[in-house]
Amino acid sequence: MLGRMDETTAGAPQRVTGELPAQASAPAGPTGPDAGQPDLPSPYGAGSRPAPEAAHPGPARRRVRIPHLQTMKSEGRRWAMLTAYDMYSAQIFDEAGIPVLLVGDSAGNNVYGYETTVPVTLDEMVPLVRAVSTAARFALVVADLPFGSYGGSVAQGFDSAVRMMKEGLAHAVKLEGGAPMVPLVETLTGAGIPVMAHLGFTPQSEHQLGGYRVQGRGDGADELIRAALALESAGAFAVVLEMVPTPVAERVTRELTIPTIGIGAGAGTDAQVLVWSDFAGLRAGRVPRFVKQYADLRGTLLAAARAYAADVESGAFPDADHSFEA
Ligand code: KIV
Repeated sequence: MLGRMDETTAGAPQRVTGELPAQASAPAGPTGPDAGQPDLPSPYGAGSRPAPEAAHPGPARRRVRIPHLQTMKSEGRRWAMLTAYDMYSAQIFDEAGIPVLLVGDSAGNNVYGYETTVPVTLDEMVPLVRAVSTAARFALVVADLPFGSYGGSVAQGFDSAVRMMKEGLAHAVKLEGGAPMVPLVETLTGAGIPVMAHLGFTPQSEHQLGGYRVQGRGDGADELIRAALALESAGAFAVVLEMVPTPVAERVTRELTIPTIGIGAGAGTDAQVLVWSDFAGLRAGRVPRFVKQYADLRGTLLAAARAYAADVESGAFPDADHSFEA
């Protein structure tokens, strides 16, 4: 979702085999050709090279895998998912211990500047997925299949999901929709591609749904629950519930054995997801009602850009500390 204003201004689960990964990490030192070389910063940014150990203090961490999410549900432990679209956001959220990163098609709004998620293409998504997958060392990376890349046929959806896994290096894909998606979910999970489902308000269908509206009210509640159960039986490992009344999301969460991930669905789901530019206060204007802003990055960057421009204009930057002697 994302950048949404209207009403909002807002397969069978896998068996658990491992312990939960710890929240912080102490990764092994670098290996390979540059092992032992001094860790000089690149003048152009950090590239995809993992952050040094200092950035990952604490006990060893392991890659989050789908059975860990299932374990958290059975133990009643809630978890947070965030979107990420690039290396830095992925590295930071990964270091913060966010277990699942979603390369959402909300990249359409947040990276490409479209008004909705509808225009974003598979070709536009794949490089973002690859950047996040390369940067995230511990998080499970889920790639959103964009509108038009899977709704035509199972074969089309399969090909798109394979691109996300092979070219994007994703660990799972997400798709929107209920009962009509069951054959595709069965095919993908049967082929070893984990699927996160997405019900309730599904932004790719916003024109069909008539705008950003809460879904699953009245008779819609039973329909939503039936769809969630069908997707679980088809093999989905989790389901996002977007803009769904709290009691309905609670019921779905009780009836499913797989985790539910809420966004505008109240506090009763197993997990929550927010779009990172919303939660970090990066974008201008009103945010959906269900968004809590945890930072004011827009304000911070605005002040920094203004200060830099003023320093350049006055000649205060660069000073001797930021210049080279002969
Ligand atoms: O595209 C997206 O970011 C999403 C989440 C908000 C669930 O679908």
